[in-house]
Amino acid sequence: MQKRKLSTLDVPSVGMGTWQTFDVRSETEIAMRQKIITACLEEGVTFLDSSPMYGESESVLGRTIADKSGSFQLATKVWCQGRATGKRQITQSFQRLWTDYVDVFQIHNLLDWKTHLPVLEQLKAEGKIGLIGITHYATTFYPEMIQMMKSGRFDTVQVPYNVLERTCEAEILPLAEELGIGVIVMQPLGVGKLVTGLKSRPDLSPLQSHGIETWAQALLAWILADPRVSVIIPATSKPERIRENAAVGSLPALPDELRVYIESETRRCL
Ligand SMILES: NC(=O)c1ccc[n+]([C@@H]2O[C@H](COP(=O)([O-])OP(=O)(O)OC[C@H]3O[C@@H](n4cnc5c(N)ncnc54)[C@H](OP(=O)(O)O)[C@@H]3O)[C@@H](O)[C@H]2O)c1
Repeated sequence: MQKRKLSTLDVPSVGMGTWQTFDVRSETEIAMRQKIITACLEEGVTFLDSSPMYGESESVLGRTIADKSGSFQLATKVWCQGRATGKRQITQSFQRLWTDYVDVFQIHNLLDWKTHLPVLEQLKAEGKIGLIGITHYATTFYPEMIQMMKSGRFDTVQVPYNVLERTCEAEILPLAEELGIGVIVMQPLGVGKLVTGLKSRPDLSPLQSHGIETWAQALLAWILADPRVSVIIPATSKPERIRENAAVGSLPALPDELRVYIESETRRCL
């Protein structure tokens, strides 16, 4: 697994998100998440992203990584209004994740960020969190994110980036590179639709000599071909897909012509 810089942190290029996939309650479903975490550890997918917005996700992560938490880098978020509520939610995230240190604490969708930022800065000064980040899924918030990035108070930014959603290429990625801000990529598979929403089957034959065996791998390799990306965080509810997605982190850099091929093949199959 290739390592990249997320600000000052060395992270695997392929991590894992947990929206929906770790919001589970039954023992059977939790046992399956335990298998996912075991696969993550085996494959070097050691950067995990969560949020209190994701229902049971933080708690299920905390439970399934419990005795191996030192092997993972944890990213979570604050997602609420108000200082007292924010402090309570942040405390609860530490408890749910069964940890006294969170590597990346992000402000989810910029919600009430002016209130939460000083609280996170205090926690960083106390050594309880590593990096402070911002996230948004909506590109209409990029102008505000750009101003925040320029303030020098944020270490990471989390945005959508995939073959069909490339808005971050215009300003977010160049600015992140210039300022040394780490980039976490959400929705790398377009919330799964870039794999399940195709009308015809992509032709993988030009990609096979590069080590790409599945269409999901092609889409993930397309993102990692951009060196400004620190870590992609595809989510899955299936342990075997951890191996499939992680394999992309060990491939050599994708040549430009194959990147262009993946773009045109996506358009052809949509
Ligand atoms: N505002 C925010 O901060 C924000 C917003 C959105 C997302 N995020 C973060 O980013 C993470 C990733 O985004 P996302 O979960 O929205 O979308 P995504 O990772 O693009 O897509 C997830 C979907 O892809 C499928 N999938 C994963 N690997 C696959 C493979 N190898 N082959 C075929 N299908 C595959 C999964 O289905 P299966 O379960 O069937 O494998 C799942 O339905 C989230 O989980 C979350 O942590 C943050």
